[in-house]
Amino acid sequence: MIQLATRTDFHTGVRFCTKERALELGTGDIFKGKYLEIFSRVSSLGEQEILIGLGKKKLTKREVMEAAACAAACMRDYKIWKYYVDTEGIESFLTESNWSYFVQGLYLGGYVEPSFTKDKTQPAEISILVSDSNLVEDKLREGIYLGEGVEFAREMVNYPGNLLRPQDFAQAIAEQMKGLAVEVEILEEDQLKELAMNGLLSVGGSSAFPPCMAVLRYRGNQDAAGEGIGLVGKGVTCDTGGYCLKPANSMEGIRGDMAGGAAVAGSIYALAKNHEAVNVTGVIPICENRISPDSYLPGDVITMYDKTTVEICNTDAEGRLILADGVAYALDREHVTQIVDIATLTGAVVNLFGFSIGGVLCDNEALYECFAEATKISTEQYARIPFYQEHEEMIESRVAELKNLGPNYCGTITAGLFIRHFAKGKPWLHLDIAGTAWVEEPLWRFQSKGATGAGVTTLYEMCKQQKTRGEN
Ligand code: BES
Ligand code: ZN
Ligand code: ZN
Repeated sequence: MIQLATRTDFHTGVRFCTKERALELGTGDIFKGKYLEIFSRVSSLGEQEILIGLGKKKLTKREVMEAAACAAACMRDYKIWKYYVDTEGIESFLTESNWSYFVQGLYLGGYVEPSFTKDKTQPAEISILVSDSNLVEDKLREGIYLGEGVEFAREMVNYPGNLLRPQDFAQAIAEQMKGLAVEVEILEEDQLKELAMNGLLSVGGSSAFPPCMAVLRYRGNQDAAGEGIGLVGKGVTCDTGGYCLKPANSMEGIRGDMAGGAAVAGSIYALAKNHEAVNVTGVIPICENRISPDSYLPGDVITMYDKTTVEICNTDAEGRLILADGVAYALDREHVTQIVDIATLTGAVVNLFGFSIGGVLCDNEALYECFAEATKISTEQYARIPFYQEHEEMIESRVAELKNLGPNYCGTITAGLFIRHFAKGKPWLHLDIAGTAWVEEPLWRFQSKGATGAGVTTLYEMCKQQKTRGEN
């Protein structure tokens, strides 16, 4: 629990400290107030205090978030579950838009991944000390909701695959939306068959745990005519590669192939919790990619939901198949006017950008501008990838309209363009988070080893932008 307070009864806390302030405190050579330096002391009032260094330059929003995360991580490691956070030293950096990200940093810095040992951690009780609590109350709430949305996405990705089958993932999403103004519909395998969603059915048919699809409808703006933006997220709860089996050393992390779907759910959760006046529809095709007598195979030709025929060249290129059906469904049945899809889609994007930058493809400048604005607020890093006619030709098949594999170059582009085919000329933006959804070594303090919750904040800010742009 994180709350605002003007005074506190807790006797343990955190204070932030610039280099100048460290000099004044006279901690000498031990603590210089360098950025993210940590020092514990007993204050003159006899309180146990952790000092977090801020350095001396102006802090960026991400640095503010990291300083907050550093404080929470430190308290978690000391196993202190009730503490105050004094904003005095950091107040000048807490501009309106930084506030909710400061709170998010506090929330996520203390994140503990799911554990199946007997040791139980406790939820922290944090009192943020401010001079005037009224001014920042809505920012505090936003920060908490965003933190919860990111945490949900992390939990789903970190959760062991055997405990999170397609049905479990769908249920967890429904559970997360309980009590919110989000209509949740789970389309079961029978319904998918009636709809002839053969992209999703072909991939999902490879597992004894059947596929399903979660549809989340949030209508925060009843006055708007359109159904607004459609967020389509890849929900592969386990990707072995299927008959085009992954080598053993590429199997680590296969349980996290639903990070895109989790990001869609996490962002809609935060929008609904915060009562944002926007309309968003989330579509999350969910399945496993495994091996069974019923599995789809290279050489198969399938007819997708929108009747496009696709030649299967590689069963490990499954994400684009399920997303294609998700996108076509969002347009056809949910009447969304713009498509944003997000997925851990290609190893190629990891080769390109590593673990700190996601890939973006987009065919509409207004939509891209909205996205770029959103990343300025969320501080997530993405880089745009171009595409041209020659790339479209790379996925033309000799026996069907498309094939699900391009040549062994331009992998991120051809995967994206496959999905774009199903957006049928509607504004389309595609996020490939295969590198950023998971980190072995955290890059920033608000990350932890494993799932990052990539995409949640950017999707949230992007949908929120729709409100100010009046496009909804
Ligand atoms: N889920 C993977 C992509 C991936 C790779 C995610 C590494 C996270 C880390 C996707 O389904 C996949 O297997 N893609 C293949 C496509 C190829 C067969 C065209 C890939 O990128 O190797
Ligand atoms: Zn795959
Ligand atoms: Zn995959």
